[in-house]
Amino acid sequence: MRRERRHSPMQLDRYSEGSMEVIILPDAARVAEVAAAQFADVIRSTPDAVIGLATGSSPLDIYARLAELVRAGELDVSRVSAFALDEYVGIPEDHPESYVSVIRREVTEPLGLDPSRVHVPDGRAADIERACDEYEAAIAAAGGIDVQLLGIGTNGHVGFNEPSSSLRSRTRIKTLTRRTRVDNARFFERPDQVPTHCITQGLGTIMDARRLVLVAQGEHKAAAVAAAVEGPVTAMCPASILQFHPHASVVVDEAAASALTNTEYYRHTYENKPPWQHP
Ligand code: GLP
Repeated sequence: MRRERRHSPMQLDRYSEGSMEVIILPDAARVAEVAAAQFADVIRSTPDAVIGLATGSSPLDIYARLAELVRAGELDVSRVSAFALDEYVGIPEDHPESYVSVIRREVTEPLGLDPSRVHVPDGRAADIERACDEYEAAIAAAGGIDVQLLGIGTNGHVGFNEPSSSLRSRTRIKTLTRRTRVDNARFFERPDQVPTHCITQGLGTIMDARRLVLVAQGEHKAAAVAAAVEGPVTAMCPASILQFHPHASVVVDEAAASALTNTEYYRHTYENKPPWQHP
């Protein structure tokens, strides 16, 4: 059944200031706690929330924290649906590093989500283009994504939208950069086993989510975070498109924040956040 879409980010923009919130926290554990709390808030206020999932290392502690809340009886996810950002093309479904396996292992099972409500792009489809269109249609039919979790690649990618991705792109097949394949080689036995292609939600798809939460931990992410938050909006740093989103949080530890320049302002803003400002 098609769920009523509450409001689009652009409608939201009419009555909110539409700024990116940068939250700098002492360590990775606090990043997970704060980002998980943001997700938990959305799910508590919208029990049939549609959440957007990311893979990679950055979100793992967030999923673990959400699973803890579910186990403690503090969060009910029985009506939640989920859509993953991306998937490798051509990797067998039962490969431990296919994103369909990773999402099942790290999210669906520990949180006890209904597997029929958890969606991952089909990287094995005979007709990839059609699978991409169907994925977009499934997100729309679910009513759009309420809150999307994002990591960031060292080259500024979000999902698998590599530098030079169209800022309005939709779900499609992409070629992975050498840098991303090197970064992700740690998940595979040999670097040449990292797939060369992927399906990823586009930047336009990601920007349609009502709320975005980007997390980054560690110094190796510092340059990408600074480019995304304080650099020009450019396809060469796909995460910089978040500057146009009316409700985006960037939740980082000190190391990932270390190349930002406007930090005094971000800290002041977060520490003095008035209760009327949206969470
Ligand atoms: C991966 C994923 C992204 C992820 C990024 C960073 O390849 N496709 O969704 O955000 O690269 O990964 P990590 O969190 O492991 O640093």
